[in-house]
Amino acid sequence: MHLSRRIARIEPSITLALDARAKALQAAGEDVVNMSVGEPDFPAPAVVRETVQRRAAGGDVRYTQAAGTPGLRRAVADYLARTRGGEWDSGEVTICHSAKHALAAALLCLVEDGDEVLIPLPAWASYFDQVRLTGAEPILIPSPSDADGFHPDLEALRAALTPATRGIMINSPNNPSGTVFSPAEIDAIGTLAVEHDLWILSDEIYRELVYEGGPAASPASVSDEVRRRTIIVDGASKAFAMTGYRMGFLAGPETIASSVAKLGSQTNGSPNALGQAGYEAALTDWPAELEGMRAEFAARRDVVLAGLARLGLPTPAPRGAFYAFPDVSAHLDERGSVGFCEDLLDEQRLALVPGAAFGVDTHVRLSYATSLAAIEEALKRLDTFLARRSSTIPR
Ligand SMILES: Cc1ncc(COP(=O)(O)O)c(C=O)c1O
Repeated sequence: MHLSRRIARIEPSITLALDARAKALQAAGEDVVNMSVGEPDFPAPAVVRETVQRRAAGGDVRYTQAAGTPGLRRAVADYLARTRGGEWDSGEVTICHSAKHALAAALLCLVEDGDEVLIPLPAWASYFDQVRLTGAEPILIPSPSDADGFHPDLEALRAALTPATRGIMINSPNNPSGTVFSPAEIDAIGTLAVEHDLWILSDEIYRELVYEGGPAASPASVSDEVRRRTIIVDGASKAFAMTGYRMGFLAGPETIASSVAKLGSQTNGSPNALGQAGYEAALTDWPAELEGMRAEFAARRDVVLAGLARLGLPTPAPRGAFYAFPDVSAHLDERGSVGFCEDLLDEQRLALVPGAAFGVDTHVRLSYATSLAAIEEALKRLDTFLARRSSTIPR
């Protein structure tokens, strides 16, 4: 069968492939500790489950408007006004099947063959292939790191600009590092965008999961002129532990919001009616459970960081999301972070994600959206693995 050049440009998601491999080993009876997947281990809040059950039982589960139900779009606009400031209109919001879908749809509306998109590293693996799918080229810009996290390199971003540069994708709090960009860094990215007529695709999916230092800044809050170039992507998966409901949104100038709705009307009809009912309930009746989830993630983060420090792995402190991204460069052979993770799964049945998936081959990602018991066990296995490995890697 002849396939398009478009599909040949991209690879399957490494994180989903690794998770599938770990789950297959588990299904075969192996004792696997899976720290690879970024999925909260809590149930969705009660208000979500009850709303969705009631709605399904009542039978009112039909196509909705392509841009999402008026009720949910209004609830998102109100949520943005509460959290990002300013006034938001429902016309600036399009509901999507997930944040991943919102990102892909936005890119399909924004770029095409010959265009370039700047991506500061580390960055969520899907960005690279989502950009390639459109025909555009992702331009990956390494970011220096310190104990505080990875910092966007404004000089390098500026130096990478060409007449083909259309925009920049950012993600704060960041997957995989947990870094939260400072307000000054967000301002500087906003200035760059204004000076060079770029859009900013700001993936804010982890916004509700920040453990210290105040909420993550959004370019939409910087100034009117930066907001006019900003497209926020956010969703229900991480904030409300609603991964399987597949609910996300895009918010920004009406031209991009309505373009994504037009694309959706031809490619997926409308977002899931039950998911939308549940998401609207969560946004309007803010669930009490969220504070408990955040406190639990913060406690796990502390255990992970203390454990990684004991193992001698330098780890930029994650202020948000639920990932730690230790530097394992001292333990790599010529196969880099991929070989490290393959050996770790083979020898210790511990699944982590290679930093190569995020454009930083010296690190690996651990998700602490798992129980404390699993975290303790993972640290133990990592300790054993590193001790054995230090005697086999030539220095
Ligand atoms: C940075 C980032 N953006 C977007 C998503 C997608 O979220 P969803 O498609 O579940 O809404 C994820 C999920 O892991 C993520 O880590």
